[in-house]
Amino acid sequence: MSNLFPTYQRWSIQPLEAKGAWMTSTENKKYLDFTSGIGVLNLGHRHQKIEEAVIEQLNKYWHISNLFPQSIQEEVAKLLCDASGLDYVFFANSGAEANEAAIKLARKATGRSKIVTCLQSFHGRTFATMAATGQEKVRNGYGKMLESFSYCAFNHVEDLYKNVDEETAAIMIEIVQGEGGVHPATEEFLQAVQSVAKKFGALLIVDEIQTGIGRTGKTFAFQHFQIKPDIITVAKGLGNGLPIGAMLGRKEWKEVFGPGSHGSTFGGNPVSLAAAKAVLSIVTSKDFLEGVIDKGEYMKSELQNRLKGQSTIKEVRGLGLMIGIELTEQAAPYLEALQKEGLLTLVAGPNVLRLLPPLTVTREEMDCAISKICEILIHFEKTALTS
Ligand SMILES: Cc1ncc(COP(=O)(O)O)c(C=O)c1O
Repeated sequence: MSNLFPTYQRWSIQPLEAKGAWMTSTENKKYLDFTSGIGVLNLGHRHQKIEEAVIEQLNKYWHISNLFPQSIQEEVAKLLCDASGLDYVFFANSGAEANEAAIKLARKATGRSKIVTCLQSFHGRTFATMAATGQEKVRNGYGKMLESFSYCAFNHVEDLYKNVDEETAAIMIEIVQGEGGVHPATEEFLQAVQSVAKKFGALLIVDEIQTGIGRTGKTFAFQHFQIKPDIITVAKGLGNGLPIGAMLGRKEWKEVFGPGSHGSTFGGNPVSLAAAKAVLSIVTSKDFLEGVIDKGEYMKSELQNRLKGQSTIKEVRGLGLMIGIELTEQAAPYLEALQKEGLLTLVAGPNVLRLLPPLTVTREEMDCAISKICEILIHFEKTALTS
């Protein structure tokens, strides 16, 4: 009997230990982990530099409260600002909390309350971020939602224009919809988002919680495009497994969050920040990011070539090491078959097999995963064809 709320559909694999791209179960089976803790372990499990930085901070102090100035907060804020071109940082503990901060900042800065997001988006599970999420299944059963959110079709410029007006505080988007099925935004859509936001004086919020910290081959995914967000949010990969979120904004809104207006007991925790500082020192390097682009291109093109012509494959797409294989049928049975073969993957929506390998993945590990995926997808198709 479990005393946990049955919030999650758990897998049957119990983790024992993990290092790099590999996880060993309590049954002593080794798995190649292409889930990265759902896009968190961008540098793999227990990266040595991160582990050392965390241990060093553990030996100093673990928590002290935001009553005290802390140099580690200043250092990480500077690294984030230098890497993004934004000016100020608020530290939170999770993605949803970072998005809450973004929504609050946009509402207070503009004096407006309407926020436009996209259908199939995912922004979190708190009351505001659930309302921001453009998926009915996430909001189901919770009664009346927080007002003033509206949803436009992703990559649909005309629908966007219909939703934005002079009452809009912000438009909030993902550059690649992760949970919604690994759908990259088009340049045309992003340009339209930026120009319509500017036209009506609304802020542009980019949710980089899944796409940020090198995942797509840039420190932040918006940097693939010619756009200048007013606010970005990050979490997941920032702490490489230690809980942290951050909201970054431009200097124009420095005074919006004055003392007493917003805050968090644990936000800016020094242990998580020690991890974040070490993560950023690695992930923001040009060579590292170019490596991610090369690896992403390699995986995507290998999968596209080897799976070409298979009737169960609709599309292989993605950006950097955020890859989705859209199937013509449910992805869950394939995920289970891959688990039996020792490869951990994710689904995004009912039909998309999602791959989020660590950015440190090696060519051999990618080849191993690609072979397993192709074997399973093609084998399943053969079974389907002969039955
Ligand atoms: C794009 C995006 N935004 C927000 C969130 C919510 O983050 P968290 O689960 O840390 O609250 C997620 C989580 O999957 C996400 O992918």
